[in-house]
Amino acid sequence: MKNKINIAIDGPAAAGKSTISKRVAEQLSYIYIDTGAMYRAITLLYIENGKDIINNLSDFEITFKREDSNRVLLNNRDVTDEIRSQDVTGKVSEVSSFEAVRSYLVEMQQKIGIEKGVVMDGRDIGTTVLPDAELKIFMQASPRVRAERRLLEEKERGNAIDLDQLTSQIIRRDELDMNREISPLVQADDAVLLDTTELSIEEVEEHILHLAQQKIGVE
Ligand code: DC
Repeated sequence: MKNKINIAIDGPAAAGKSTISKRVAEQLSYIYIDTGAMYRAITLLYIENGKDIINNLSDFEITFKREDSNRVLLNNRDVTDEIRSQDVTGKVSEVSSFEAVRSYLVEMQQKIGIEKGVVMDGRDIGTTVLPDAELKIFMQASPRVRAERRLLEEKERGNAIDLDQLTSQIIRRDELDMNREISPLVQADDAVLLDTTELSIEEVEEHILHLAQQKIGVE
């Protein structure tokens, strides 16, 4: 049997990381971990319970129910839809800048990576969570194209949001994520930069699978 590798996929909001990561994981029969969903779940807790909850994070477990389209469970409560709300999206960059939140989630994510065979997407996977990942990708795309892609997703969920509003929300989130003190969004030195502005999902998927096969071949 071939050796398994870890694949870290980082990049700014709505660059297509989760769509691509899911497909790559499926092709390789790897586990897909959406770390943004974890930060969103903690943000939901924060909104519902206030900031004291941040000191009691060890009471909470975040799991992914993969056999059922990647549902996200917070202590067995299905929060898949709630964590995509505008309220959570508007607050998640702030909550994910807290030290207690980051250290709690990074530890959880690192445990998942130990067995290898993981495709993990986020902002600090290649730099902090899995610095030894065999393949690191930094996905980029212009803010407008990212907003257009997110608009389509929101429409599918039945949400009507204005494109200009989405573009400014994405730019604001990028700024907060890139400028926070602890593990900000930054390209790892050994990450492959992939600008997807002009590429289709299939092209990006094929490119990453090709790079992964090269790594799997030599590991
Ligand atoms: O990928 P996403 O848009 O669902 O992520 C939501 C937010 O979570 C993002 O704006 C910043 C934060 N995040 C983070 O700080 N570190 C990660 N590894 C993943 C997400």
